[in-house]
Amino acid sequence: MKNFERHLVTSALPYANGPVHIGHLAGVYIPADIYSRYLRLKKEDVIFIGGSDEHGVPITLKAKKEGVSPQEIVDRYHSIIKKSFEDFGISFDIYSRTSNKIHHETAQEFFLTLYNKGEFVEKTSMQFYDEAENQFLADRYIMGTCPKCGAEDAYGDQCEKCGSSLSPEELINPRSVISGNKPVLKETKHWYLPLDKYEDELRKWILEDHKEWKPNVYGQCKSWIDSGLFPRAVTRDLDWGVKVPLKEAENKVLYVWFDAPIGYISATKELTPDWEKYWKNEKTKMVCFIGKDNIVFHCIIFPSMLKHEGTYILPENVPANEFLNLEGDKISTSRNWAVWLHEYLEEFPGKQDVLRYALASNMPETKDNDFTWKDFQAKNNNELVAIMGNFVNRALVLTSKYYNGIIPHPGADTEYEKEIRNEILKIKENIEKNIENFKFREALKEAVNITRLGNKYLADTEPWKLIKTDGERVKTIMYYSIQLCALSAILAEPFLPFTSNKLFVMLNIEKPEWEKAVQFDIIPAGHKLNEPELLFERIEDDKIEFQIGKLMKAKEENELANKTVIPQKEIITYDDFVKQDIRIATILEAEKVPKADKLLKLKVDTGIDIRTIVSGIAKYYTPEEIIGKQVCVLVNLAPRTLRGIESNGMVLMAEDKDGSLKFISPESLSSNGSTVS
Ligand code: MF3
Ligand code: ZN
Repeated sequence: MKNFERHLVTSALPYANGPVHIGHLAGVYIPADIYSRYLRLKKEDVIFIGGSDEHGVPITLKAKKEGVSPQEIVDRYHSIIKKSFEDFGISFDIYSRTSNKIHHETAQEFFLTLYNKGEFVEKTSMQFYDEAENQFLADRYIMGTCPKCGAEDAYGDQCEKCGSSLSPEELINPRSVISGNKPVLKETKHWYLPLDKYEDELRKWILEDHKEWKPNVYGQCKSWIDSGLFPRAVTRDLDWGVKVPLKEAENKVLYVWFDAPIGYISATKELTPDWEKYWKNEKTKMVCFIGKDNIVFHCIIFPSMLKHEGTYILPENVPANEFLNLEGDKISTSRNWAVWLHEYLEEFPGKQDVLRYALASNMPETKDNDFTWKDFQAKNNNELVAIMGNFVNRALVLTSKYYNGIIPHPGADTEYEKEIRNEILKIKENIEKNIENFKFREALKEAVNITRLGNKYLADTEPWKLIKTDGERVKTIMYYSIQLCALSAILAEPFLPFTSNKLFVMLNIEKPEWEKAVQFDIIPAGHKLNEPELLFERIEDDKIEFQIGKLMKAKEENELANKTVIPQKEIITYDDFVKQDIRIATILEAEKVPKADKLLKLKVDTGIDIRTIVSGIAKYYTPEEIIGKQVCVLVNLAPRTLRGIESNGMVLMAEDKDGSLKFISPESLSSNGSTVS
């Protein structure tokens, strides 16, 4: 094991084409934040890097759809994302962005170094081109049928249905995403990173030297390497991105997955003039936090770039998480199936730690996991409120009641206090071991165990009874209980920073360093506490039902949007059409048909006569609201008897996707009897 002197923690740069949701937090930013906060508390030299990924096709497509510039899109989302992370206490040392000048320069310089060393392979090939739009169709600009699973909406770089990584030529029936046109092939030249040549070194570096990587990460790398590596193009025929710094490549940009990880380097440069200490020194331990869809880029491509550039260190670990689902369904921005961080904060103000807790204790560390609102509520009510909040509250309230908030002098330890000291040693060690091995769920469980232990201590010793018979013993119990509060505030800080701060304020102390969290004299006797407040409050059913209702609404809207229109009927002649006699008519009277919940009986003035029509619209209109309305009536329909009433004609209705009916009415008042054709 190498001896490291400092830490470089990176977290995947989210695309600035939408706000961030719970999947982002649980997958990448909470684990990275826990890890960085822990190292800081340990007084390690650590920097935690984040930023927005502002290039790539999803951004230009979104801009095109909204009719605005890509810069406008990234400006908008960069600030929303940055604010969400700040609000949730993600403690970046810098949150930068890849549209910064320093990033463009850094990425270009990186490219040129590889270019000048002759690392790239230049290749001219035929690529898909949209003639109407005058544009090459890279990556997500092209869609077609997936050659692996048959899904009809696979992208040029990936099929989201089966997860296969693809290249545009593999798509069956390719089509342009911009115009829907069938693309043509056109010649173009690009620069490739020859991953095939790096295969042996990658095999050794990952499969032999990094057997300790998480099984999901190691497994994905192994299957990539085993199925053979191919040269990978690092340039694109696009205009949004970092310009390729070569004369002969004026209209080309760097592939987004080439420039984005270099963003970690540019952000570090922006943060400190001492950036090389973090990137070019073997004593730095680099850990990259990402989601599983980023594994190949961070384990294979980026390390190859770094290694062959020649002056950089490589990641020591890449603890990728799997995905978080929401109420049993994949999180999706386009289907609005997500819990957006900025919306959560509006609906649960001040409850950042509740979400951090729910996500960290259910993090998709080894497999995909599911977030449910019921589980969120249970975690809050049964764990945060009932265990941590309860203990802290009892300890502080009793101390305030018995001693006016002044820490009493303890008497001699009994076996129980010795046991507690031992337990705490074990808990702290377990938290450390688990965080260092990226097992954050286990670590969090241990952190909660401190207050679990505290609750048991109070329940076993019953100071509220003893106070009448053995005041001296109660002093010891309360002294220990308060120390346990302080220890839990330190050891829970990486997970629940807001709660921990609140607790330090109530305890009236500065945040101690991590190593102190085994000592039972953090708060000396005689120290005065501040007024106790509740750490957590219960979340009631109505709040949870509201959230579930919101999701159900998103689901309905989405199902509606996905319903296809009814296909066209067979062709008719004009003569067929004019057989229908349609007139403008006014509804004079309307009433419900007894025992028929769908029907209204209408009296209408057709201009020809006044007649009765029975219409199935009772679910959509009340009788009162339609009296006086002008509608279209098919007047020469053969009479029918409905519920004993003869209906003479039909009121024309438009039927919406959800089956609801609406009148078709003339745009302005017309005379009854006007014909409709
Ligand atoms: N923007 C990418 C995504 O959201 C992640 C980029 S990570 C980086 O999947 F390191 F390359 F920046
Ligand atoms: Zn597929």
